[in-house]
Amino acid sequence: MTKDLGIHGNLFGGIMLAWIDEAAASYASQICHTPNMVTLKVEEVVFKKPVKLGYQIRIYGEVIKMGKTSITLNVETRKYNVYSQEESVVCTTNIVFVRIDESGEPIPIPSPVIERYRK
Ligand SMILES: CC(C)(COP(=O)(O)OP(=O)(O)OC[C@H]1O[C@@H](n2cnc3c(N)ncnc32)[C@H](O)[C@@H]1OP(=O)(O)O)[C@@H](O)C(=O)NCCC(=O)NCCS
Repeated sequence: MTKDLGIHGNLFGGIMLAWIDEAAASYASQICHTPNMVTLKVEEVVFKKPVKLGYQIRIYGEVIKMGKTSITLNVETRKYNVYSQEESVVCTTNIVFVRIDESGEPIPIPSPVIERYRK
């Protein structure tokens, strides 16, 4: 939407980052069976191509590392043209999330989850 664009008519990077963080946190929470996941680290973010008005944004995640209290996702963002059905990668990064308790301290991710996703 126009409210999400910067002065060059491209999707503003900060907006994109917020969407990526939200989508990835949601996926990490789903995998780890808890909403109590916080973003610890966003690795290098590459905005490879601009996104113009009217495209859909699709955000894909994959577990690349499972630790004791942390999980690392590779996140790939793609723009989708609803007219041509073409999809292409516009942004990539890795994000680390940590499971926390009520005091905000790291606690272990359930072991069946660790076993399932450990590489
Ligand atoms: C996330 C947080 C609870 C971690 O606390 P901490 O005392 O630094 O945790 P630890 O040093 O015990 O590390 C916890 C996990 O993070 C990993 N970790 C720590 N620093 C890391 C780094 N620089 N890169 C990758 N992983 C890292 C550790 O290896 C550990 O993972 P593991 O248990 O799977 O091996 C704390 O840093 C925090 O509250 N950060 C703010 C979170 C937040 O508000 N996010 C929103 C941003 S606005």
